[in-house]
Amino acid sequence: MMDFENELKSRTDRVDSILEKYLPEAEGPQKTVLEAMRYSVMSGGKRLRPVLMLETYTLFGGHDRVIEPFMAAIEMIHSYSLVHDDLPALDNDEYRRGRKSTHAAFGEAMGILAGDALLNYAFETVSSAFTIDQSPRTARAFSLFAKKTGIFGMIGGQVVDVETEGKTIPPETMCFIHEKKTAALIEAAMMTGAILAGASEMEITATGSIAHDVGLAFQIKDDILDVTSTSEVLGKPVGSDEKNNKNTYVKYYGLEKSEAEVELLSERALSDLASLPYDNPFLTELIKSLITRVK
Ligand code: IPE
Ligand code: IPE
Ligand code: MG
Ligand code: MG
Ligand code: MG
Repeated sequence: MMDFENELKSRTDRVDSILEKYLPEAEGPQKTVLEAMRYSVMSGGKRLRPVLMLETYTLFGGHDRVIEPFMAAIEMIHSYSLVHDDLPALDNDEYRRGRKSTHAAFGEAMGILAGDALLNYAFETVSSAFTIDQSPRTARAFSLFAKKTGIFGMIGGQVVDVETEGKTIPPETMCFIHEKKTAALIEAAMMTGAILAGASEMEITATGSIAHDVGLAFQIKDDILDVTSTSEVLGKPVGSDEKNNKNTYVKYYGLEKSEAEVELLSERALSDLASLPYDNPFLTELIKSLITRVK
């Protein structure tokens, strides 16, 4: 029987040490923004995206350190998305990962710049993968990573999320928001892992749809927790979605149906994962654990 919590801890510890290795030291004239970058990244997030990337890479037989710059970069992108998401112009939240959000701690200008810096540094970090492996796989992973994190991925979702606050929108638009702002980064994580490990076209496509389901379920659960949890447990404010008149599954369908949707999507992801000719029991447990996560 696997000790899931211990296994998870060893992976998140590895992510932390990879991030520590890739993040620049806070020194020089631009020290303040470097401190803000570190403050937002080295603050104990769940590290879900790099862990999913690594586990998908392992699932398809990957075992090289080319995965490491990609793991660091996806967490930098995720962290910058949170720094900007919390800004007064977006969700206006002052609390993140159990402490003041970056703009609240460093001021709005440094919040904006730390986000910009993390975004750019993520690409500087990913580009170093080419010094480890020059194969077409690295180039393909790079291109997918750029696309899923950008205007046709995460940023696109954030745009529509903010623009439709307080408006009634059709279900397709809500789906678009959730798929882009959140599932796209989970897809970037898992598909990058599959591509770098040399998975076949069919396997890469299958990985994309598993990641889509995991990502959509993850955002619906986030919206549920925004209503049912406490800020002490989450490490970020609850009630943020209501405050901002966000369009969420909970608002449209209620808690019970939203929970059922999380379960349905997760079960579909698990059965698609099980139908692949490879096995990674930890990855299976990780996806299962997200259904009942409390933070
Ligand atoms: C929060 O992501 C933003 C969403 C996409 C819901 P996480 O819940 O993964 O945040 P951290 O990294 O653990 O802080
Ligand atoms: C955020 O969605 C998705 C991002 C791209 C950052 P939320 O706005 O619901 O995330 P939280 O609840 O602030 O973490
Ligand atoms: Mg938001
Ligand atoms: Mg938010
Ligand atoms: Mg939320």
